[in-house]
Amino acid sequence: MVYLWIVNNMAKKKKNLKKNILITGGSGFIGSAITKHLVKEKNKIIVFDNNSRGKSRRLKEVKNKIKFIIGDIRDKKKLLSIKDNVDTVIHLAYVNGTKFFYKKPFEILDIAVNGLINILDFCKKKKVKNFYLASSSEVYQNPFKIPTDEEEMLKIPNIHNPRYSYGGGKIISELYGIHFAKKFLKKFIIFRPHNVYGKDMGNEHVIPEFINRFKKLGNKKNFLIYGTGQEIRSFIHIDDFISGFDKVFKKGKNQEIYNIGTSEKIKIFKLARLIARILGKSIKFKKTKVLKGSPSVRCPNIKKIKKLGFKQNIRLKDGIKKILN
Ligand SMILES: NC(=O)c1ccc[n+]([C@@H]2O[C@H](COP(=O)([O-])OP(=O)(O)OC[C@H]3O[C@@H](n4cnc5c(N)ncnc54)[C@H](O)[C@@H]3O)[C@@H](O)[C@H]2O)c1
Repeated sequence: MVYLWIVNNMAKKKKNLKKNILITGGSGFIGSAITKHLVKEKNKIIVFDNNSRGKSRRLKEVKNKIKFIIGDIRDKKKLLSIKDNVDTVIHLAYVNGTKFFYKKPFEILDIAVNGLINILDFCKKKKVKNFYLASSSEVYQNPFKIPTDEEEMLKIPNIHNPRYSYGGGKIISELYGIHFAKKFLKKFIIFRPHNVYGKDMGNEHVIPEFINRFKKLGNKKNFLIYGTGQEIRSFIHIDDFISGFDKVFKKGKNQEIYNIGTSEKIKIFKLARLIARILGKSIKFKKTKVLKGSPSVRCPNIKKIKKLGFKQNIRLKDGIKKILN
């Protein structure tokens, strides 16, 4: 009898852990990986994405287990037409890719501000309890501390530089979200990804961009690097990112902020050399001017997420080989 009661109670508890989740930007690079992970954990998922950079094929293996709505988060009517129960929102929809920061700053801010207000309005109307906001390492710009912890000052160094539409939009999202949440949500958590890479990530990022250019290089030796090559970054493989996100999702505390990244630093020219070596190319570097506003060093302090149990499993060299295979 007692045994049955315990088993029933455990089953009930387990069931309660399963969530009805709306993932905006769920067909994007990170969103599709989060979606697949949370489907595996038996949550009910609705993906909302306008497929501007998202791809339905990324969700092929779970397509019968999720609901996929193609829509723009700036379209409030479409968002509010969702009739399903939603208790949790993971908000990822945003314009990513450095070259777009310079090309379409207004669109970035429009999606950041109006998109966020719509999705928070949706939460209010649907009585959503939990909200996870994807922010970015770009909110730190050129940080004072390296490695950079979550207490670092957030900055917009020059209001006229279009690059800061991206980081600025994230700062607005964090600020608005934190104070909205105090009134209307039970749990609000911010995570700041730091240079996530992996298969099918979209070509506007440094690792796939280098790989593609190396492949097209043929016998030519000169390889162009944007910047001096001395810029330092830390990359996290998507599988490690998902394990970090999972810790934040399950153990993260209300109103807290978590860096998700690694402390494995690399100079950009060394990254290029590493990829060249793996691909069997010998190259000479040609440098160009640094993109205006590009931070010289970016490396997160990950003590906080480590306390939740996170550990890096994939070193950069192995992660790149994984993509190439
Ligand atoms: N990839 C990284 O290294 C990284 C680093 C820092 C922060 N982030 C943040 O993580 C999130 C996911 O990034 P990602 O790398 O998967 O980028 P991504 O471009 O692959 O994904 C973003 C998704 O949002 C969708 N989207 C864009 N505008 C939309 C709109 N108006 N309405 C609905 N959907 C829209 C796109 O179609 C895309 O599927 C973003 O918020 C990004 O800013 C990513």
